[in-house]
Amino acid sequence: MIPNLNIVPFVSVDHMMKLVLKIGVERFLTELAAYIEDDFRRWEAFDKTPRVASHSAEGVIELMPTSDGEVYGFKYVNGHPKNMREGRQTVTAFGMLADVHNGYPVLLSEMTILTALRTAAMSALAAKHLAPAGADCMALIGNGAQAEFQALAFKALLGVRRLRFFDIDRAATEKCIRNLAGLGFDMVACGTAQEAVEGAQIITTVTADKQYATILTDNMVGSGVHINAVGGDCPGKTELHRDILLRSDIFVEYPPQTRIEGEIQQLPADHPVTELWQVITGVAKGRREPGQITLFDSVGFAIEDFSALRYVRDQLASTGLYQELDMLADPDEPRDLFGMLLRAAAPAKMA
Ligand SMILES: NC(=O)c1ccc[n+]([C@@H]2O[C@H](COP(=O)([O-])OP(=O)(O)OC[C@H]3O[C@@H](n4cnc5c(N)ncnc54)[C@H](O)[C@@H]3O)[C@@H](O)[C@H]2O)c1
Repeated sequence: MIPNLNIVPFVSVDHMMKLVLKIGVERFLTELAAYIEDDFRRWEAFDKTPRVASHSAEGVIELMPTSDGEVYGFKYVNGHPKNMREGRQTVTAFGMLADVHNGYPVLLSEMTILTALRTAAMSALAAKHLAPAGADCMALIGNGAQAEFQALAFKALLGVRRLRFFDIDRAATEKCIRNLAGLGFDMVACGTAQEAVEGAQIITTVTADKQYATILTDNMVGSGVHINAVGGDCPGKTELHRDILLRSDIFVEYPPQTRIEGEIQQLPADHPVTELWQVITGVAKGRREPGQITLFDSVGFAIEDFSALRYVRDQLASTGLYQELDMLADPDEPRDLFGMLLRAAAPAKMA
């Protein structure tokens, strides 16, 4: 597709938005979930490592690499809960894919929007295996940047039609309800988290706070629900009371990373958890009985970003929604890198 070795296809924010709107948000989420599912099925083919995190008082900056032996990918992502109050995103990201055989990048992409889509697709994919049969009502606690994506993924993959919102900032809830109007939801704004979980078979927590928060206490969680805990994803940053964890069957992406970053950082290092890829491949069971509390302790793992970038890359040829970025130096003779620099100076001198 790209004839010139110096060129790397780049998907800007503008092109990503056009791509998502062209495909349709729900179809994008469904197809992306299928890519993640495919990659989770070949879990053992991937290089895996907990992400490399650089913590500061205000937040965290992380690098998330993986490879399947053919393609290498990584994402840069930050998490700064105070950003929102300064007019910035809490989470921003970009990422790339490269050809393992020559190391050349083959895609560079914005991933702020793509992260929201992949996180939502991953949540709904997990819930497909874990939520009670016929669940159609979800409590959505934390109504920030990720929230609408979560709602639409649960609609597209599970048929969730009823949403019960809560956020400490009423304006965030109003924004969600406004954005999702006309998309087929029955929506209720609630005054407390306790009120939001009433009658919900699925509880999604997606709040941002750089501390051990308690968005859900034990008495708020009845039997049979599925909890999709998305916001606790850093050391010292959790959302659920420890007692809920002790009553739940806990499902995770990659245990070595989740034990550092997830809700289970509150538990001993040998507390049993089930890896989602094993549920997806049928090696382990998902939901076993109606009364069970299932918990997806989501932190976000590199393979999901790899799948998302792979999905975006597969859309480029048919949509043309990318720019050609002059990103790799490509001298006529590979060893003459300096000569290329000199030749670039020559016309300037002559002028
Ligand atoms: N697990 C993953 O893969 C993954 C991926 C992306 C983001 N995240 C995490 O999800 C969280 C939300 O991200 P975002 O981009 O939507 O952030 P955001 O800042 O846009 O929104 C967060 C919302 O949470 C609300 N909130 C804070 N404390 C609350 C509380 N106690 N009760 C109810 N609401 C509360 C805020 O008012 C805000 O509206 C962040 O913590 C982020 O790190 C996780």
